[in-house]
Amino acid sequence: MKALELLALAPVMPVIVVHDADGAVELARALVDGGLPVLEVTLRTAAAFDAIRAIAQAVPDAVVGAGTVTDAAQWQRAVDCGARFGVSPGLTPALCQAVRNGPWPFLPGVATASEAMQAAEQGFEALKLFPAEAVGGRALLRAWHGPLPQLRFCPTGGVSPDNAADYLALPNVACVGGSWLTPPALVQARDWDRVRELALQASALRPRRSGDAGVAA
Ligand code: 3PG
Repeated sequence: MKALELLALAPVMPVIVVHDADGAVELARALVDGGLPVLEVTLRTAAAFDAIRAIAQAVPDAVVGAGTVTDAAQWQRAVDCGARFGVSPGLTPALCQAVRNGPWPFLPGVATASEAMQAAEQGFEALKLFPAEAVGGRALLRAWHGPLPQLRFCPTGGVSPDNAADYLALPNVACVGGSWLTPPALVQARDWDRVRELALQASALRPRRSGDAGVAA
């Protein structure tokens, strides 16, 4: 699967911080049942790799990936656990070398036009804008669409139910990422019904169309 095909699967990619690998499968099922199959599990906790492995094995309808990938060793370990895509907050030469020609889509994080151009030079056509709201948000993406019309973005960082639809209306936004689908209090309480409701609301943000590559009409 190419990165743009991945991003076209759902309008929102939940960014998940897992503290308990046991609950990860039920959490993933709630998100998938709510219409969000593309799940980014961040490599920020000790439980992250086990969670990726558990979701990959037990939730076949999920497309689970690793987020916060910052070096080649992490990426290899995530792939070995079953990650089917990767996301990073930025792109170093070593990470670029490790992820560029692999079988799985990878979204490097960018925050400036130069970073976006460098990532495009390396063959990445879909990029994470991070941290989206802090670096200019929708105004920045609108401004980049003129000189960099070929690039598509998954803005993440500060995206919420209040602004997600406005991001998704931009022609260069393929989907958005965010942690609002998995509030720590709900996850701790194992309130999967409420998580599913949040996912349902998010998955309805933009109707998917056959052949939609993530570019709003
Ligand atoms: C992250 O890496 O934590 C993501 O950018 C999530 O940001 P958010 O919590 O603002 O959605």
